[in-house]
Amino acid sequence: MSDIALIEALCAIVGTGHVVTGRADLAGYDADGRGPVGLAAALVRPRSVQEVAAVIALAAREKVHVVPQGGRTGLVAGGAADDTGSMLLLSLERLVEPLEIDPINRTARVGAGVSLSRLNAAAAEHGLFFPIDLGADPTVGGMVSANTGGARFFRYGDVRRNTLAVELVASSPEAHVLELGRDCWKQNDGIDLKQMVIGAGGGLGVVTAATLALQPRPVHSVSALIALSDASAIGALLVAFEQKWGMLLTAFEGISAAAYAAALAHVPRLRRPFTANYPYFVLIELSGGALLQSDQLEEMLVTAVAPFLEGVEPQVADVALDHGGGLWALRHALTEGLRASGTVIGCDISLRRGDVATFRAEMIAELARDHPQILVCDFGHIGDGGLHFNLVWPHAAGAVPDGLADALRLRVSTKVVECFGGSFSAEHGVGPRNIIAYRTLTALPVRRLAGCVQSLFSPVPIGRVDYGAMAR
Ligand code: LAC
Ligand code: ZN
Repeated sequence: MSDIALIEALCAIVGTGHVVTGRADLAGYDADGRGPVGLAAALVRPRSVQEVAAVIALAAREKVHVVPQGGRTGLVAGGAADDTGSMLLLSLERLVEPLEIDPINRTARVGAGVSLSRLNAAAAEHGLFFPIDLGADPTVGGMVSANTGGARFFRYGDVRRNTLAVELVASSPEAHVLELGRDCWKQNDGIDLKQMVIGAGGGLGVVTAATLALQPRPVHSVSALIALSDASAIGALLVAFEQKWGMLLTAFEGISAAAYAAALAHVPRLRRPFTANYPYFVLIELSGGALLQSDQLEEMLVTAVAPFLEGVEPQVADVALDHGGGLWALRHALTEGLRASGTVIGCDISLRRGDVATFRAEMIAELARDHPQILVCDFGHIGDGGLHFNLVWPHAAGAVPDGLADALRLRVSTKVVECFGGSFSAEHGVGPRNIIAYRTLTALPVRRLAGCVQSLFSPVPIGRVDYGAMAR
């Protein structure tokens, strides 16, 4: 089939207005988050699961590589085409139905194109929320495919732990529409196939809808930014706070001095919590239901932090309290602050919680020795061992030398995996960004498992990361 015939066939499925081919019209759809700009053959915007299935079946027949695209807020370029001009972008943005909340079951049935903010607005009417908290506003299909984590993973887990069922158009030549899982909270009737899809980055098919587990929205909360005298105190604080507050502790985020300074320097209207400089900060949040008043939460917080402010060499240097969103605005502005400071080489890693401080100290020292231009501006969800270990190449140092970003990412990933037993992707998935680390550090068990379950790996090229091809 010629390119023109392919476009005509796509138009016949979704309507002429929903196949985009012009370069100018594709602008805005050509990158995913911070990733590189790709060059797609076309973008197609189906409106229903049946249209998605028809597009996949056509692409399978014509051997066209399909890249599903959600809200374009990822960190691993999973929703962008490569630069060959041959890939077909499949935008899920028109799949905004259903959006149904079941308040008694405490679940939501949601189309892949529904944004997190729309889902939460609908859930809020019932005093509920989907507990994946992010600065960005991704869509549900992308969140499922990437297995998004976020700042409240610490209390509620990631998308994997909060999804009951997934509707998938499989990447088989027949493009079967599959419902994996049920709307029940408890399911223990065999292999949990939906978990093969969550976090697979489109490797097994296109996620078109999901049933998500909701949580009661906290009614009162208090946050505090705690300035540490030394970053090595994070483990002691984490254990002490968990033991004092149990489930009331809903976030434990870490912020390096460099990331904190970048946000305050480049993002306007942020509250400056302290006048002095400190080496490391921890943002904590306590939240609960209607019976616990804000002042009670605040008293609990102050009482638990007090011992760390005492002694000859106190581990905590200062504390700033907040009942509004000021401290979270600072937290969510970190990425913007970094981008304004230079080229960000992001590593989204995870470690055992007790290893975070050691890893930081070792890796920062190694990089300072070998690449003194680089500023390490890390922050992250350290209550769950997640660390955005960002390397900033300052604008003043010129362009990043060719190949250096990939080499640095692989260096960090290798140390995390081989020396610390951690993961090179904590919450944003694999994607082209991490494909070298994936091939080097993860592909072997995938290949071995594929030998047992060949049928799980399709011959149809779909998904930005072609897990199937790699398994063969
Ligand atoms: C965050 C995004 C980058 O934690 O995951 O801010
Ligand atoms: Zn994050």
